[in-house]
Amino acid sequence: MKQIKIFDTTLRDGEQSPGCSMNLAEKIKVAKRLESLKVDVIEAGFAISSKGDFESVNTIAKEVKDCTVASLARATVGDIDAAYEAVKCAVDPRIHLFIATSPLHMEYKLKMTPEQVLEKTAAMVKYAANYCSNVEFSCEDATRSDYDFMCKVVDAAIKNGATVINLPDTVGYSSPAEIKAMFEYVIGHVENSDKVEFSTHCHNDLGMAVANALASVQGGALQVECTINGIGERAGNASLEEVVMALKTRRDYYGADTRIDTTRIARASKTVYKIIGQSAPLNKPIVGKNAFAHESGIHQHGVLANKLTYEILTPESVGITENKMVLGKHSGKHAFEARLKELGYELTPEELLSAFEQFKALCDKKKTVNDLDIEALVSHDAIDTEGYSLVRFDVHAGNHTTATSTIKLAHGDEVIEDVALGDGPVDAACNAIDKIVCPPEHTFDVYTINSVSEGKDTMGEVMVKLKANDKTYTGRGLSTDILEASILAYLNAINKLNAANK
Ligand code: KIV
Ligand code: ZN
Repeated sequence: MKQIKIFDTTLRDGEQSPGCSMNLAEKIKVAKRLESLKVDVIEAGFAISSKGDFESVNTIAKEVKDCTVASLARATVGDIDAAYEAVKCAVDPRIHLFIATSPLHMEYKLKMTPEQVLEKTAAMVKYAANYCSNVEFSCEDATRSDYDFMCKVVDAAIKNGATVINLPDTVGYSSPAEIKAMFEYVIGHVENSDKVEFSTHCHNDLGMAVANALASVQGGALQVECTINGIGERAGNASLEEVVMALKTRRDYYGADTRIDTTRIARASKTVYKIIGQSAPLNKPIVGKNAFAHESGIHQHGVLANKLTYEILTPESVGITENKMVLGKHSGKHAFEARLKELGYELTPEELLSAFEQFKALCDKKKTVNDLDIEALVSHDAIDTEGYSLVRFDVHAGNHTTATSTIKLAHGDEVIEDVALGDGPVDAACNAIDKIVCPPEHTFDVYTINSVSEGKDTMGEVMVKLKANDKTYTGRGLSTDILEASILAYLNAINKLNAANK
């Protein structure tokens, strides 16, 4: 059985895609999930790209103990210096440098000749290897490169100290048979290719990222680069959960497996979706709500007779638990804590206390509190930011009145109140918040509302995305009152916007 390494780039390739930006606390939370998932490598960011990115790569490098931590770098001295500076405190630091090798990228983007790219590769890999014994080198746009030229570049990278060679399908152009053949060709034509690990990194522009990643494994790749929920540039990257479960489910075919603790997949997926303000499409493989639902009579009949008729993997194997309605008004803190543990949540005593208080408050408003409600409370609480908090709100609205909202917010020791009109109650409330906070200029990009579980008394979860200077700030609000959820979500996003622009 081949052991395939999982290189997670949710925090780099995923985070750099539109609408997926995360703040430091959120990135650390994701890194912790990735560590407990047992990914082999966390690409924590692109250290040179901003002060914030440097800080987050550096913090993750310090905090994560059980994974290699990598920073991306272009093939330049400045990028490599910053990458090493950011990851050097990691238990196992890696510098990941890249340069494009396709004719199109070399001529129009880099404005370099193939010879210059070859020289640059040799010099920069050598420079990085002086810092660090773990150097990954990527031929950007490998699948559209001339394979013989790419072999020369890979050869130069290996001779100068690269330990991992990545051949990405940067624009999602390849097909499974083609990418498998590319790996076989390069591995077969480069001297010492057996001394390094080959890696694949597939984008999903034609919907083939996962298939291409798996075909690369058949072609000899020993590392797969992927992201939670498949987030990433444009149509995204190969999704970690799909690659991992395909390898596990079809071990007989691929003869390969990973060290991932698959029972933690559902939680990692939810965490990332919540942070970026999205939810899984219903039919998303592995983590979508319908992934294990059997609606049709024929399927139900088959599953009842023998699960294997229509179920090739179990919900339990990816950490999806049955939605048991076990807790209510009279449940004590121990029962609450025990249920959280069963759901995979380990909270600090302070977090537990706060979650329990919210749970009790929810029991007063809602007849039954189920796992979905509990998970929503816990994950919500954990990502709240500092800043302004809601003291009270009043809204007057109707189909023949102009909506008015009075909002009272606390900020440190100060309590401030203001009133505003708006085009509906949510708009009026947001206008009143703007009058109090005077946030940096932004546009209101996305507003979504979802019910957490079933029933008229369910909690509403609102996601708000604000855009400022090409960055997205995602806020979430949770309440059985959807106006309150909307106000909390807007405030959460405004707090993040303020914090980032201090
Ligand atoms: O898609 C790509 O080619 C990349 C590289 C930087 C590895 O993300
Ligand atoms: Zn990429």
